[in-house]
Amino acid sequence: MSPERAQRVVVTGDGPVLVEGPVEIDLPDGSRVVSQRPVTALCVCRRSARYPICDTSHRTRKKTEESS
Ligand code: FES
Repeated sequence: MSPERAQRVVVTGDGPVLVEGPVEIDLPDGSRVVSQRPVTALCVCRRSARYPICDTSHRTRKKTEESS
C-alpha cells in the first residue's frame, strides 16, 4: 500500500489527538465510532461526555490532592 500522502496525526500537549479524517475508531468494547469530519479530535483524557471524541472537557481541571 502506497498512500499518496501520509496520514497526519497531531499529538497536542494537554488536549486531544488530532487525526485527519474521515476515520473509524474501534473501541475496546468492540464498538466502532465513525467520524466524517476533516479532522477528528480524539479524547485522551477520558473526561469527554462524547468519548472517544473530545468535547473540550480536558480544559476543565479537577482539583487533585496534590494541587489543593
Ligand atoms: S482530550 Fe478533550 S475531552 Fe478529553
